Amino acid sequence: MPGAARPVRGEVIELWVRVLGSAAGGGFPQWNCACPPCAAVRTGSRPARPRTQSSIAVSPDHRRWFLLNASPDVHAQIERSPALRPSAGRAVPLEAVLLTDAELDHTLGLLLLREGRGLRLHCTEAVYEALHDVNSLLRTLETYCPVTWHPVVPGDDVALCDGLSYRAFDVPTTKRARFGPDDAPGRVVGYRLSGEDGRSVVYLPGVQELTPGVLEAVDGCDCLLVDGTCWSDDELIRLGLAARTSRDMGHMPIGGPDGSLARLSSPPAARRTLYLHINNTNPILIEDSPERRAVESHGMEVAVDGMELRI
Ligand code: MLT
Ligand code: MN
Ligand code: ZN
Repeated sequence: MPGAARPVRGEVIELWVRVLGSAAGGGFPQWNCACPPCAAVRTGSRPARPRTQSSIAVSPDHRRWFLLNASPDVHAQIERSPALRPSAGRAVPLEAVLLTDAELDHTLGLLLLREGRGLRLHCTEAVYEALHDVNSLLRTLETYCPVTWHPVVPGDDVALCDGLSYRAFDVPTTKRARFGPDDAPGRVVGYRLSGEDGRSVVYLPGVQELTPGVLEAVDGCDCLLVDGTCWSDDELIRLGLAARTSRDMGHMPIGGPDGSLARLSSPPAARRTLYLHINNTNPILIEDSPERRAVESHGMEVAVDGMELRI
């Protein structure tokens, strides 16, 4: 977006990640939910921290920032992040937005960024079509500000700016598409972002199965930010909140023999792994729960809003 800070010559290029929001759709607590974690965080009866809906910002220099997904909480998330606030006039250090899919909790924030002078948007053709032609979110946005679409092609290396590039990878899913056809390729992707010296972070807030292709895309990364939606596959069913399993919704559970904790921890898929996109029903949100202890005893972490990582 115009007016953003430029790198200073000779400046050390590194890789920064700021967790803007760490909850799944609805946030934590969710306005219409009284499940055990939502009730506990409202009353303070158990140790738990409120969370906004998932999004991260990535930067090669702590000056130019790229948003990964734009959550409905984006205004509050920017205000809480000193590095993302405008420096002078209306110049903001946000350079572009990269989308993993067309879910509303990952895209509604685009409409809230309409006051900017324009938006650079990276997403696959399937996601663009869903947002432009099917639910018309992008057509609405375009009546307020120019939108420049950069088509994302899984497997291609793309330079975002000096010192930062990405490679998207396809995340196979059988989840029912809310917008557009169920079988469109590129409906869900993950991103591997790399700094100048090869350090890399993977953003994967939705993954239904750790397929060989997904594991290959994650392999050897320094930091993995991965889908922590549900602890168990039948979590929402057992609580009487929904009829579908976690996997039906495109999210592999953390626990159990084929959960992501077992699959990603031995051997460790990444130098550092953090769960985010955590649904409000997930017991890992309760900081003294056995599930939280299980995550931590496997050497994995639970992300929280405002966390800043220097990769
Ligand atoms: C998802 O990523 O699947 C969403 O969090 C679903 C939702 O917002 O309901
Ligand atoms: Mn989501
Ligand atoms: Zn809840």
